[in-house]
Amino acid sequence: MRNKTEDDITAEVLERFGATPDPRLRRIVLSLIGHLHAFVKEVELTEAEWFKAIEILTEAGKMCSDRRQEFILFSDTLGVSMVVDLLGHRKPEGSTESTVFGPFHRLGAPEMPAGGNIAHRDTTGTPAVVSGRVVDRGGRPIAGAVLDVWQAQTNGLYDSQDKEPDSLHMRGKFRTDGEGRYKLRTVIPVNYPIPSDGPVGAMLKATGGHPWRPAHIHFVVSADGYEPVTTHIFDRRDPYLQSDAVFAVKDSLICDFVRHEAGDGNGIAGPYFSAEFDFISAPNSTFAWLPRGRRRSMSRMRSAGSPRSARAGKMGRRSRPPAVSPIVKHERLPIAPMRSRIVRGLVCQFRMRS
Ligand code: BEZ
Ligand code: FE
Repeated sequence: MRNKTEDDITAEVLERFGATPDPRLRRIVLSLIGHLHAFVKEVELTEAEWFKAIEILTEAGKMCSDRRQEFILFSDTLGVSMVVDLLGHRKPEGSTESTVFGPFHRLGAPEMPAGGNIAHRDTTGTPAVVSGRVVDRGGRPIAGAVLDVWQAQTNGLYDSQDKEPDSLHMRGKFRTDGEGRYKLRTVIPVNYPIPSDGPVGAMLKATGGHPWRPAHIHFVVSADGYEPVTTHIFDRRDPYLQSDAVFAVKDSLICDFVRHEAGDGNGIAGPYFSAEFDFISAPNSTFAWLPRGRRRSMSRMRSAGSPRSARAGKMGRRSRPPAVSPIVKHERLPIAPMRSRIVRGLVCQFRMRS
């Protein structure tokens, strides 16, 4: 045998994995190996550092459960989730931009009438009314669109982080009227730290970062014939807009929450806030501009459940039966353990590019 250099090892590993039959998987593993080896060589990784990395990954794995996904938090805080989101959800000019799904969506949010209050148990927050329209790119109203909404409570925690995580709070589904209008009542959103008591928190601390997310409300807006959009609206006054721990802020999603000292004359005592935000949906046919292979894989992905839908409910305490309701396609999920749902999501992403 010969004396092997580190470059010989890289070449040998690449050669062996070069036999991977699936072309997309081959491309991914070869690129991964190339980048990984180049990184190790570039920083001249020591054995102690290599072992520390193994310990961090082991600790991350141990923290994962049906209510906590430390690897996704790594992906979010390293900006990978947002890059994947941008690659997979390029929206045509003028339609509402998407942003991270986050780990706190839960299935089974109750349908509420226009003006319904998602914050009925939150007694400390200042009331807020969020309203607007769902329209197409020509400004035409989309009637019957569904807005699946979720938000952290005024204590900075989602209901799934409460002591009694089973009961849903700060969640609701709203349907637009004939003019495409929606209206919901909540409390003013607060900024909050993402879970930082594990290796992700340690990483942020060691690198001089912080775990804070600017105040926001999550939405998935869907309507028949239109691409669903997973997004947030952000409060323009928030000090963390420039340094969101998960890099999810986009200018077009920043919204003015206006303070009113007097009540609204309609049951809300002052002071309260109001915000207006219009969602602009792109038709399903939007993907016609994609190359044919990519188009096919997008529709395959949609019918199989997107990576986002695969993540839906993952932090919820219990998976609910798949909702067959046509209103939120994101919820048509087979019941499956969280890990296999995530793996399926990743497989979908791998396929998307073949
Ligand atoms: C959230 O906004 O709920 C969230 C997003 C990414 C990581 C943690 C939380
Ligand atoms: Fe959030």
